[in-house]
Amino acid sequence: MEMVKLTINGNEIEVPAGTTILKAAEQMGIDIPTLCFLEELSSVGACRMCVVEVKGARALVASCAAAVAPGMEVQTHSPAVMEARKMILDLMVANHPLDCMTCDKMGDCKLADLCYEYGVKESIFKGEKHNYPVETSNPFIMRDMNKCILCGRCVRACAEITGQDTIDFINRGFDSKIAPFFDTELVDSDCVFCGQCVSVCPTGALVEKQMSGKGRRWELSKVRTTCPFCGTGCNFDLWVKDDRIVGVASNTDAPANGRALCVKGRFGWDFVHNENRITTPLIKKDGEFVEASWDEALNLVANSLKEIKEKNGSDSFAALSSARCTNEENYLVQKFTRAVMGTNNVDHCART
Ligand code: FES
Repeated sequence: MEMVKLTINGNEIEVPAGTTILKAAEQMGIDIPTLCFLEELSSVGACRMCVVEVKGARALVASCAAAVAPGMEVQTHSPAVMEARKMILDLMVANHPLDCMTCDKMGDCKLADLCYEYGVKESIFKGEKHNYPVETSNPFIMRDMNKCILCGRCVRACAEITGQDTIDFINRGFDSKIAPFFDTELVDSDCVFCGQCVSVCPTGALVEKQMSGKGRRWELSKVRTTCPFCGTGCNFDLWVKDDRIVGVASNTDAPANGRALCVKGRFGWDFVHNENRITTPLIKKDGEFVEASWDEALNLVANSLKEIKEKNGSDSFAALSSARCTNEENYLVQKFTRAVMGTNNVDHCART
């Protein structure tokens, strides 16, 4: 592998050719701020927050999109770089609502974090601001394009993770915005509501509708879980507050799915707290279901199965399991069928 030697902040490092300056700096423990960059997506160098000074270059360089070169001398936090980053943030907030006190994304907003870090309170630029209506017409995603910084993460997530290409940049200049074809609302587009766009949005432009008003991010804890909807085994984190689920967050470490989730996994969790869920066993007596204890219910099932086996033989029993169960549960079903009921009549809904 071809290696490249360069210096970053006066210290030498050797990295494989093709490595970006951002990645090389990361290997040295240097934190360069980013907004449009995301590990799983292609780099487009849209926001310029990651600019660095490269000796001999005519302008500051976007480190997320520039590869290292032999002998390169990079400064990641020089006065010119810090001033440029501050100006970039200033320009972003010039056309931003700055309603952080009531914004649902507060506590999980990268723009707010960077403004705090770089001391940007409000913009020195006074001018026209967008006043787009907030889109709330679908049950899953709230879109407030007034808070969009045009980083394009959502566009790339839709294209590169989901492969749907539902949204893209439209218009030009000050009127540039992200929208589905013909600037429709998401409900009228071919959006599949996987929510990948929400999970990558660094501001309050895209918010999970179900999480709105359910608590600040720092009040929530994350609990890792496996999706119960199908047999793929997607992992994600549940946002939990006061022992109640309030939302779902992608966990990029998930082995089966990474960040990707479908509409059911990301937004279909509300059944958990549905008051119509059956929480105690029910036994039919005189044609009516009546509540029973677990001992009562399990004894009834065990005795009934025993009776069927004794009366009609093992092969009168068959078990059909489900991809919605865990591997362990499916293992137990076949073990019970073979070892207890004495038959190989066991099958699975996802086998064919
Ligand atoms: Fe590099 Fe946006 S993070 S240009």
